[in-house]
Amino acid sequence: MKSAIEELEKMLDSMKIETAEELEEFRINFLSKKGKLADLVQQFRSVPPAKKKEFGKPLNELKNKFDAFFTESQKLFNSTSSEDTSFDFNLPLNAREYGSLHPIKIVESKIYDIFHSMGFDLREGPEIEDDWHNFTALNFEEEHPARDMQDTFFVGKKVLRTHTSSVQIREMENGKPPFRIVMPGRVFRNEAISSRSNCFFHQIEGLYIDKNVSFADLKYTLYSFVQQFFGEETKVRFRSSYFPFTEPSAEMDIWAGTDTEDARRLTKGTGWLEVMGCGMVHPNVLTNCNIDTEEYSGFAFGMGIDRMTMLKYNIGDIRDLFNNDTRFLKQFSGQL
Ligand code: DAH
Repeated sequence: MKSAIEELEKMLDSMKIETAEELEEFRINFLSKKGKLADLVQQFRSVPPAKKKEFGKPLNELKNKFDAFFTESQKLFNSTSSEDTSFDFNLPLNAREYGSLHPIKIVESKIYDIFHSMGFDLREGPEIEDDWHNFTALNFEEEHPARDMQDTFFVGKKVLRTHTSSVQIREMENGKPPFRIVMPGRVFRNEAISSRSNCFFHQIEGLYIDKNVSFADLKYTLYSFVQQFFGEETKVRFRSSYFPFTEPSAEMDIWAGTDTEDARRLTKGTGWLEVMGCGMVHPNVLTNCNIDTEEYSGFAFGMGIDRMTMLKYNIGDIRDLFNNDTRFLKQFSGQL
């Protein structure tokens, strides 16, 4: 049965119909009551019930494909043979514009590819979140300023997630350690829009939980990522920092130098450029997700994809990424 379905599909794929007569022939051979598709449906009736599930879907899809092909071809021949002469179907079609991947998507997949090569899987979570996943489970105090109306967009009782860290919680709640995952997505903050910040942007979150994971593993993983993304000679430093959901917490900077005007502007003269936040997952966060802190530990990190995109392609204004001006987007066509 499977090979019969595949065979018909192949036939359809290589089918060329050039005249209305050929179309009629096609209809009789394949779509009529005695046609090949009807044959297959007949065969399907005698498949044992346990197997029906396996073949039902592909058979249905095949049928739809045949129908669509027929309807499309019909349109072509009916309109050429009709009285309507306002269309010239022989005119050459020059105006071919192909779409391309958005630079953010290109960078997201570059980042993902690197982590994937280190054994990280891909996960996603919802953009509309509840307070628990966006804040409480991540060890934000009840009065933490980040919950303030200034930063967060509220949708009724829910929030538009302010970071992808919420996806860590969902994954840990729903699975069992070990975890080695990256989680890209869009995040939202109630910020004034400028060349450096927008009210939505993109992050990619990472989480690695297992037995005996240490800060050395975190450093090695992120260092190795940066070398692959920015080049082997890239110098990095870790600065201690604070996030409610990690302890200790750090920010990682890369050395952009002070030689060029761009580098000085980007680094505000220091030569160092912050690329991500990271740290060892706080025991409270693990406990909130029912993970035994005696047995497991791990690290997490989060970086801005828009920022990485601006660095990679030397884009000076974050708003260029969201205007959908094809003159801007075209420059990235064909890249991956
Ligand atoms: N969620 C943080 C932010 O949006 C970024 C971050 C910092 C994520 C440290 C992490 C982390 O997973 O460990 O600013």
